[in-house]
Amino acid sequence: MLVSAKEMLTKAKAGHYAVGQFNINNLEWTKAILQTAQELNSPVILGVSEGAGKYMCGFKTVADMVKDMIDELKITVPVALHLDHGTYEACYKCIDAGFSSIMFDGSHYPIEENVEKTTELVKVCAEKGLSLEAEVGAIGGEEDGVIGMGECADPDECKMIADLGVTMLAAGIGNIHGKYPANWQGLSFDTLAAISDKVGAMPLVLHGGTGIPEDMIKRAISLGVSKINVNTECQLAFAAAVRKYVEEGKDLSGKGFDPRKLLAPGVEAIKATVREKMELFGSVGKA
Ligand code: 13P
Repeated sequence: MLVSAKEMLTKAKAGHYAVGQFNINNLEWTKAILQTAQELNSPVILGVSEGAGKYMCGFKTVADMVKDMIDELKITVPVALHLDHGTYEACYKCIDAGFSSIMFDGSHYPIEENVEKTTELVKVCAEKGLSLEAEVGAIGGEEDGVIGMGECADPDECKMIADLGVTMLAAGIGNIHGKYPANWQGLSFDTLAAISDKVGAMPLVLHGGTGIPEDMIKRAISLGVSKINVNTECQLAFAAAVRKYVEEGKDLSGKGFDPRKLLAPGVEAIKATVREKMELFGSVGKA
């Protein structure tokens, strides 16, 4: 069964660990992440961007696939199905489609408009039992055509949005989607500490989990980060494993061209990446 992310994140914040959000792209991705979460007895959040939702034939197809897969694979750990960086319109589409969690990314609106739209969504999500993530301070890098400059969030604005009653808050602290450039300055822990002080028990979300060094991840968790988003790292691992299979000519030998064989090394690579992250984030055994 799908659950909202509220309980798993409240527990994570209190227990000083983080739950991973892993973005999904297709059936293989979804199955790999669910099976790994079950194997490690870890809660998990499946992230779906608008682009990925479109690719998978719409949010309803995604929600139905995930629910059926949870039944079929007998997944008993808590699973949240979460819209990643949703526009206002996509939030409503996902609520209708049966998602259990949404992110309204109002970071590019003036703060007043972000507040107004977030307030409305807080009410709708509370009525329907969904968790809601809000964002303050754009996350750097490019994701599905949305480009953020990587600014640091203003702690007072974070407090203002947190007080609206959202479930979790994503705050820009110098993090970037995709690979980090060689001259990256690292996470701004001063900003994170100031935000944490202001928002108290509210679970904080760290986007752009790919490529953040382990010590920074651990420090971020110690300062109140309870949800960490990982997307690119699974994609890189999948692509490298499938590339190796093809470069070794395995698709040309016997029935190696069978998509179930061709994609299998990619699936194993996703599983290994998810396992590594769950161990690092401390969510293993916390279901
Ligand atoms: P990465 O692709 O950098 O891991 O970021 C994922 C993310 O933040 C999704 O919202």
